[in-house]
Amino acid sequence: MKIKSLFLALVTATLLVTTACNDGKPYKIIDGTIHFKTPERPAGQQDVIALTAEPLETVRVGFIGLGMRGPGAVKLWAQIPNTEIVALCDLRPEGIERAQKYLDRFNRPRAEVYTGSIEAWRELCQREDIDIVYIATDWENHAHMAKYAMECGKHVAIEVPSAMTLNEIWDLINTSERTRRHCMQLENCVYDYFELTTLNMAQQGLFGEILHAEGAYIHCLDNLWGRFYQNWRLRYNRDHRGDIYATHGIGPICQALNIHRGDRMKTLVAMNTKAVLGYEYWEQVTGEKYDGEFKNGDQTTTLISTENGKVMQIHHNVMTPRPYSRDYALVGTKGYATKYPVQGYLLHAEALGEVDHENLNSHKFLPEDIKAQMMEKYMHPITREVGAIAKKAGGHGGMDYIMIYRLVYCLRNGLPLDMDVYDLAEWCCLAELGAASIENGSKPVAVPDFTRGNWNKVDGYRHAMAE
Ligand SMILES: NC(=O)c1ccc[n+]([C@@H]2O[C@H](COP(=O)([O-])OP(=O)(O)OC[C@H]3O[C@@H](n4cnc5c(N)ncnc54)[C@H](O)[C@@H]3O)[C@@H](O)[C@H]2O)c1
Repeated sequence: MKIKSLFLALVTATLLVTTACNDGKPYKIIDGTIHFKTPERPAGQQDVIALTAEPLETVRVGFIGLGMRGPGAVKLWAQIPNTEIVALCDLRPEGIERAQKYLDRFNRPRAEVYTGSIEAWRELCQREDIDIVYIATDWENHAHMAKYAMECGKHVAIEVPSAMTLNEIWDLINTSERTRRHCMQLENCVYDYFELTTLNMAQQGLFGEILHAEGAYIHCLDNLWGRFYQNWRLRYNRDHRGDIYATHGIGPICQALNIHRGDRMKTLVAMNTKAVLGYEYWEQVTGEKYDGEFKNGDQTTTLISTENGKVMQIHHNVMTPRPYSRDYALVGTKGYATKYPVQGYLLHAEALGEVDHENLNSHKFLPEDIKAQMMEKYMHPITREVGAIAKKAGGHGGMDYIMIYRLVYCLRNGLPLDMDVYDLAEWCCLAELGAASIENGSKPVAVPDFTRGNWNKVDGYRHAMAE
């Protein structure tokens, strides 16, 4: 009896040492690492890795959210054949009218309008003649709208970041798995010309094994803060720590590192500076001083290690004056690529094939003429196919067009989409996981396996092609 009590006391003491009190937080600290709970996959539900759905002859779309971003997407959809723009929804009429004018310009019929109520978007989702709901509202109106649309039998495409919390992320994963509907985050930067070319080079082994990668969202929003509907964006920054807008930086490098296609994000640590300019912007936009704590630091840095021993470094800074940058760097055993502030490649001579090897070494970028030859040789097949049309159609220089073109192409051919709900989860989780790290003195956080055991099912990232 005595031995049993002693044993129980020992077990309790060990648990007390290794599991810090979590004060009602959604995580536990075990052996110095923060762990969030991974909910079990509901019985009878399967993963949606490489999910396919019935091919669609014509892709019929409904839009929710026509503020600064949404109408531009309508303009691009109007230029893509085999699509119908069926319905438009926003609380405010101005954006809807802007979108209708684009439909006029491209000789498309005007779309049905849903407005006048905070719930009108639900009626749009219920329509029988819509295949996909395209959501470009503010961040807190992404996940719940997408969940409802999937429950109405629609595929969903959601602006970045599609989910702000782990609860929202798991909700989207479970809903996509249960309904077998596509749930894609509209991360456009993975379709930029340099990133696609570089991904193609990486997939062909030009950089050797990629060990480290960098990404960022560095974009001073000083002239934009006052333009978001009811100041939602600055308010979100005011109330939340962590990298709350990570997807442009992390998306392209996750594809190059084959995340959940042979590797997975394992541990994350985050740090931020104090918030300085947030208070100033708040006063400029609202005319009032903010006396509470402005949570999002002016610059946030997140480091993520992977199962296969790689490291990613992600920066977020929307506050201080700095040249725009998404960093984008791949550091490999045989080469290096970077995009900001100047685009450059460094490659071992053996990777270069036919070209002149003079003046190449392991310390300098390729000369411009050789770089141009390499970029032409390794232009991604998608860019080769639609790059010129995309440049003409526009949308951040063409990448937005390519994103929508690919979405329509995959839906029409019944192919897996380029980005699945697990990409969405991995690229959005930096917000809540990073905040937990920062609030605990930059402690490591275990990144949940959002595939729940299937991150190794697919070998390498590939765009699906009909041929
Ligand atoms: N991928 C990119 O390059 C890129 C660029 C800009 C913005 N974005 C993203 O696009 C999204 C929208 O940003 P924005 O700049 O257009 O913001 P915005 O404030 O200009 O527009 C949001 C719109 O949502 C509408 N809305 C809110 N609640 C609604 C509801 N219940 N029903 C109907 N409409 C509702 C508002 O009326 C507003 O017009 C954000 O997620 C943002 O991060 C992405």
